[in-house]
Amino acid sequence: MSDPFHQLDSTLTQVWQRLARGTKDRRAATRNPTLATVGNMGPQARTVVLRAVDPNAKTVEIHTDRRSLKVAELTKNPNAALHIWDAKANLQIRLRCTATLTHADAEKWAQIPENAQRAYGGSPAPGHEIPRPDAHDPAPNRDDFTTITLHITEIETLHLGSDLHRRARFAAPSWQGHWIAP
Ligand SMILES: Cc1cc2nc3c(=O)[nH]c(=O)nc-3n(C[C@H](O)[C@H](O)[C@H](O)COP(=O)(O)O)c2cc1C
Repeated sequence: MSDPFHQLDSTLTQVWQRLARGTKDRRAATRNPTLATVGNMGPQARTVVLRAVDPNAKTVEIHTDRRSLKVAELTKNPNAALHIWDAKANLQIRLRCTATLTHADAEKWAQIPENAQRAYGGSPAPGHEIPRPDAHDPAPNRDDFTTITLHITEIETLHLGSDLHRRARFAAPSWQGHWIAP
């Protein structure tokens, strides 16, 4: 079988397949991307869970607390990036995105198991100083539940092959791929 990372089309297919796997398989490298945003003091990066992927709309979805720093940052500046290092595949995936935010989505909230709803809401709000690690009441609150939809505008891959490092870029609107110098 030929290596999918030797061709542009199959490289892009790999990206979408691996992203889709991340929404279902807790052990997939794409399960926990790093989300980077632009903050007042410069870049901010944190681990998130990939909740949904739509290859047709070219979007991915992340869930968070409305009161988190990332929501404030994305409200001010919707430019974001997602980064994934898939060690098993020797593949780095970089996604350039713009974010839209949806608050308190009742349909999505109803699909979240009760114990997982505890990640959204609670007192005090995320980022506030507390006297002890357990000085936090995790009361789930749908109003604090925010969906971050990342609209992907560019995908860049770097595959570390045994013979070559292959770097490729795919960008909206055509998603035509190009090899670029690694
Ligand atoms: C494995 C892992 C998964 C995480 N998933 C999420 C997530 O899906 N959403 C989220 O808001 N925070 C998630 N976090 C916590 C964030 O990394 C971060 O600490 C928190 O959201 C506060 O970030 P902020 O202050 O930049 O908004 C996760 C952390 C880890 C270690």
